Amino acid sequence: MKSWDAIILGGGIIGLSLAISLRKQGLRVLVVERGEPGREASHAAAGMLAGSGSEIPAALKPLSEESARMYPEFVHELEDESGIKVDLREHGTILISEDGRFAEKAERFAWDQLHTLEPTLIGSEPGIPPKCGLESRQAAFLTECSVDPRALVSAALKAAKHRGVDIASGTEVRKISVEADRVSGVETDKTSYAAAIVVNCAGAWAGCIGPVRFPVKPIKGQMLAVVGGPGLKHVIRSEKVYLVPRSDGRIVIGSTLEDAGYNKQTDIGTIQRLFQAAVELVPGLAGSKQHEAWAGLRPGTPDELPILGETSLKGYFVATGHYRDGILLAPITVQVMTDLILIKAPHHNLGSFAPARFS
Ligand code: GLY
Repeated sequence: MKSWDAIILGGGIIGLSLAISLRKQGLRVLVVERGEPGREASHAAAGMLAGSGSEIPAALKPLSEESARMYPEFVHELEDESGIKVDLREHGTILISEDGRFAEKAERFAWDQLHTLEPTLIGSEPGIPPKCGLESRQAAFLTECSVDPRALVSAALKAAKHRGVDIASGTEVRKISVEADRVSGVETDKTSYAAAIVVNCAGAWAGCIGPVRFPVKPIKGQMLAVVGGPGLKHVIRSEKVYLVPRSDGRIVIGSTLEDAGYNKQTDIGTIQRLFQAAVELVPGLAGSKQHEAWAGLRPGTPDELPILGETSLKGYFVATGHYRDGILLAPITVQVMTDLILIKAPHHNLGSFAPARFS
């Protein structure tokens, strides 16, 4: 049987970047992916790096804020190793709210500030005209970045291959193998692979692999991308919708939160509602063209916190349940998991994320 030092289940951004990190430490690493690497949640994500976003649970804030700070270096390393540009945009986010309840670090501003000649922290937003019809709403600014997750995960895949990470795609892991009370590898639909370390980074599918189960549930998000509208500079978010511009002119609009099992179909009514909510914020989008509509499956957990740590089975680790923030949390997840796997001493207290909290 072929053997590696570590096997990673799942070729999304978390699995691939963890594979690179372990490989850099000298381990021989195999990534096993049930479909094509980078084609599930990492492909579907919007790519907002909202480290202090109001929807992030308090227990996760120290990790999410640190991960946002780590992003420029994380990106530059992947870009250097792969030659793929991942469209890290640092223009910030405009929040628009009916009731003015913003994440704590948001800086409120008046609408006319967007179009004054004086340079402001925000800078003007070409997508929002001076008389935009939004004047009755509250607006605020956050210094957040965004990234193109599809480019990011392609860069991670290329960098992983370049570093000598082995990838087995189109191969489903059926079961974790156990020998003398510790992990000894995995059994797939086709064969078996041996390793003394196995890390489950299988996103919404992480809970399907026995014998150790995790309560991970797919939470569907439908999204669309438009082209040919007004160029947007900032990410724009309201209670109903978010708009994430890419440097190639696409604007990604999202998203829903649906408990629909593993169904990834989109429906026209939902996509149309998202589009209308986007047009309410940026009227010029009415003349844009729908370029694509899709749905992805976020790995949700009962307490909306990730699952990070060693399981009850020695040598078998898990890093999943990143719910709405898998792209954002990739750098910090890689750091804490690498520490945990290799030196057993992560800088962060991972107590709130322990796999054992569900047993
Ligand atoms: N992080 C964006 C979303 O979950 O829709």
